[in-house]
Amino acid sequence: MNEKNRTVNSREGNRNAGNLGPIPTAYGENADPVSNRACSSKAPRQLALEPSYPAAQQLEISGTDEISLGYDHASSTYEEYWLKYGAGPTVEMFKRIGEKRGGRAIDCGSGTGFSTACLSRKVGPSGSILAVDLSEKMTEIAKRRLAELKITNVEFRIADVLEELKNLPRASFDIAIIAWVIGHVSCEEIFPLISRILKPGGEVGFVCHRHRSPLVPFEAFEEIALAQPQALNKLVVMTLPDGKDEAERHLKEAGFNPKHLQEGSFTVRYSSGEEVYESIMKAGLATSFYYSVRLDARKRMAELFIQAIDRRFSDLSELEIVHNYLFGVAVKEKA
Ligand SMILES: C[S@@+](CC[C@H](N)C(=O)[O-])C[C@H]1O[C@@H](n2cnc3c(N)ncnc32)[C@H](O)[C@@H]1O
Repeated sequence: MNEKNRTVNSREGNRNAGNLGPIPTAYGENADPVSNRACSSKAPRQLALEPSYPAAQQLEISGTDEISLGYDHASSTYEEYWLKYGAGPTVEMFKRIGEKRGGRAIDCGSGTGFSTACLSRKVGPSGSILAVDLSEKMTEIAKRRLAELKITNVEFRIADVLEELKNLPRASFDIAIIAWVIGHVSCEEIFPLISRILKPGGEVGFVCHRHRSPLVPFEAFEEIALAQPQALNKLVVMTLPDGKDEAERHLKEAGFNPKHLQEGSFTVRYSSGEEVYESIMKAGLATSFYYSVRLDARKRMAELFIQAIDRRFSDLSELEIVHNYLFGVAVKEKA
């Protein structure tokens, strides 16, 4: 398959994913359990919304609470709305990772378990996997998936993977995977933590969106948030690498020898801004943005977001959303 420039209709997707999830449920105006909770603030390299106005400067940065809540809500629709696209690049990344039969592996942000199932093929039944994710509901689906596949050597932990990595023994893992999680955490944060727990010669594999991708929803959110700063509870931070060069630099700084780095893109076609909104919410892509908007402003912001998307495609019958991504595999250098 040519990974570059695939175009798919939002209703088709990439059926390579297998095990697609249940039919999406409606995304309701749920009570807001987030806004009063403490959040783990992370140092931003790049804000999705630049704080160019005074109100934004005082806002807390959205953190693990928004992420776990967002993925809990998107869990039943994640596979149908995201994994069917995301699985292709993930599989391509896995092709570049060596087998470590009987080895120990970690899946950082295991979600509904697709990357965990891929990982289990690398270590085999005699190996073991630690699967860490913030979202209980995503993890419930992952447990079901692995049980159906009769994979029994996985330990699941509901936790912030950045904290888990700090507490794991040094040089104790053979493989680490981080599939579609960079953005929520940055390369600068996670690569050194992974490097510490990998044995020399161990491999890290990652796949993620590139900086500000998918661009149209990013721009539309920025536009409405800058026009309505009072609607925000939090600032959303997405820390994605520009491309191969930036990823290579972060890998080398963390003590890795890059083995394979590849950029690609695919385009998803939609028929309306409303369809774009629905699909990025159900994919989990927009959920931390959604939960960073004040409860009483969410309905209005959703309407404005849809209008901002529609405006960008006003002359066209189809809306094309381009996803630029990057994947890579790197080897932990011998001491
Ligand atoms: C897009 S999904 C990817 C799931 C899976 N790796 C896959 O390829 O399908 C992102 C997952 O990362 C999890 N996540 C995000 N930030 C995290 C963090 N700091 N610690 C643990 N999990 C995190 C989310 O809860 C979500 O399940």
